[in-house]
Amino acid sequence: MYFVANWKMFGDLRTLNSLDKVIKFSKTNKKNKFRIIYCPPSTLIRPLSKRLKKTKIEVGAQNCHHSYDFGANTGQVNSRMLKSVGAKYVIIGHSENRQLGEDDKLINLKIKSAIKSKLKVIFCIGETLGEKRKKRTNKVLAKQIYNGLKSVKNTSNIIIAYEPVWSIGTGIIPKANDLLNSISYIKSKFRKKTPKVLYGGSVNNKNIDQLKDINIIDGFLIGGASQSSKKFIDIIKKTFN
Ligand code: PGA
Repeated sequence: MYFVANWKMFGDLRTLNSLDKVIKFSKTNKKNKFRIIYCPPSTLIRPLSKRLKKTKIEVGAQNCHHSYDFGANTGQVNSRMLKSVGAKYVIIGHSENRQLGEDDKLINLKIKSAIKSKLKVIFCIGETLGEKRKKRTNKVLAKQIYNGLKSVKNTSNIIIAYEPVWSIGTGIIPKANDLLNSISYIKSKFRKKTPKVLYGGSVNNKNIDQLKDINIIDGFLIGGASQSSKKFIDIIKKTFN
C-alpha cells in the first residue's frame, strides 16, 4: 500500500522537524506492508531526502517541466534536476495544475521526460463535478489515460492516482460503489501490466475506515491531512486495522 503525502505549497525547513514522528513510525514497517512517499515543495526535496537517507521513506516532487533538456525556461525545474536532488517520484497531471492550463498533451510530454529521467510517475486523473453529473466519468478517465500515456511503451513506472476534482480539499469522498467502479475501470484500461491505482481527495483519519474496505485501492494520495504527522500516521495505522 502506498501512502503519498502531497504537501502542495506548504512547508519550510522548520516543517521538516515534524517528520521525526513519521520516521520513527516507519521503523515499525518490518514486513514492508506500506510505502511512504513525501512530495514536498521542490525547495525541500534536497534537505528532506538527506534527512530520510537512512529510512525507507522516499521523496517525490509535485510537478516538473516537460523538457528533458536544460534550457531558457525561467522559473522552471525539470525532471533531471529533481532526480539529481533526491526525488524518486514526481506527481504529474494534478488537477490544480490542469486548472492552470496543463492539458493532456503537455502532461504526456512531462510523463515522458520523467520516465527518461528514471523517476516514477504518480499520474493524476479525475473528473470534475460537472462531468460526474453528466455521467461522463469513465469517458473522461479513458481520455486522460489515453492521451496522457500516448506512446509511453513501458508503464511499469507509472502509478495512477484517481482524484475526482470535486473531492479534493472539500471533505467529500465518492460513494464506495462509485469508487470501486472507477478504480476497476481504470485498471481495465491496461492490458499488459495493471498499474497501482491510488485514491486521492479528502482522505483523512476518519474516512479512512470506509476507504480501506475498498480492497482494489493500492494506496492513497493525501493532501491536507498529510501536513499533520499524527493524522498521516493515523491513516496508515487505521488502514491495517
Ligand atoms: P486533499 O488533497 O487530501 O487535501 O483533498 C489531495 C490532493 O490534492 O492530492
